[in-house]
Amino acid sequence: MRVIVVVGARPNFIKVGPLMPALASAGIDARIAHTGQHYDAAMSDVFFSDLEIPAPAWFLGVGSGTHAVQTGTAMMKLEELLSAERPDALLVVGDVNSTLAGALAAAKLGVPVVHLEAGLRSRDMSMPEEVNRLVTDQLSSMLLTPVREADENLIAEGVDAARIHFVGNIMAQSVLENLPRIAQRDVAGAHGLARGGYVLATIHRPENTDQPERLAQIASALRACPLPVLFPVHPRTRPLLAGAGIDGAADSCVSLVDPLGYLDMLALQRDAAAIVTDSGGIQEEACMLRTPCVTVRRNTERAITIAVGANRLAAADARAIVDALAEALAGGREWELPERWDAHVATRVATALLGGVLPLVGYV
Ligand code: UD1
Repeated sequence: MRVIVVVGARPNFIKVGPLMPALASAGIDARIAHTGQHYDAAMSDVFFSDLEIPAPAWFLGVGSGTHAVQTGTAMMKLEELLSAERPDALLVVGDVNSTLAGALAAAKLGVPVVHLEAGLRSRDMSMPEEVNRLVTDQLSSMLLTPVREADENLIAEGVDAARIHFVGNIMAQSVLENLPRIAQRDVAGAHGLARGGYVLATIHRPENTDQPERLAQIASALRACPLPVLFPVHPRTRPLLAGAGIDGAADSCVSLVDPLGYLDMLALQRDAAAIVTDSGGIQEEACMLRTPCVTVRRNTERAITIAVGANRLAAADARAIVDALAEALAGGREWELPERWDAHVATRVATALLGGVLPLVGYV
């Protein structure tokens, strides 16, 4: 069986880390096509080296742009690749623009689409990722879900249950496989922080970064934090922070650092007293690492992390974030991990693939 695996952005790389060796052991010829949505060394290369991911067989050089430009360029390049290669399936992961581009290009060529991390829903159509999830899932021949609630979402949208496989959360497997490798890693210490004595912050979503008022509210909450804050900054957020009142000056309690690789970020999450984020993947990693999380969003497609008690939502409002952070810092860490957030997710994916991918009706 020949499968092309599309990746483009940071969270995608983390998901294919455990996947590629499992597919190879199952005898599946899987090769990576990297769209180039993320291209900086700190946003891309470091994940391939940290996670020992095989080098992409194709690098498509799509780069940044508006959503239509980025998605359209990736579609054009992937259409060309798929037409030449004609794989048995195209596997896409997550919910970024490269995921959607892969699904659209493949479905129109009659190449079956396999979606890993299918069925998550925030029910917020102002999120570009929600649009990507909905469309990708409708075009997918096989839907591999991370939580049981995702199966229910898909069935409610009319997806045939025979196409849905509850494989569990691949992000969880990545955490479990890599934790032993960072047992001795003290990234907090390298930044002058004590383990358990700081808050880790990441904010990069346009809904938070592109509205000065919201970013100022988040900045104000971080400045009011009772512990020092370490903030690895996404390139899109960096130029906006000074205007919001965080400049990373040495005397500030908020330290700004460049984006970090996967293993450093895992160590920092493990050792933080709490995490403040708007990332999807970090909500899941924090849950696995038993570090309480505050998610600065109105909603989340990772509702399971709230249900188990690992995470809570806060609006982009200084008071709401301060209160949620106080609750996170005061709370316990003894929640139950969600079902199938374990070290066997990639093997379940391989088994599902070998069971056969049903073509979509009309594309037989
Ligand atoms: C994308 C995903 C988002 C994910 C995030 C993880 C979509 C719609 N969004 O958002 O779901 O949480 O990745 O990081 O796909 N840039 C660089 N260097 C890079 C990449 C980006 O400087 O290597 C800058 C550019 O100014 C670019 C901006 O970041 O325009 C945004 O990048 P883009 O890939 O469009 O979206 P993200 O915000 O990274």
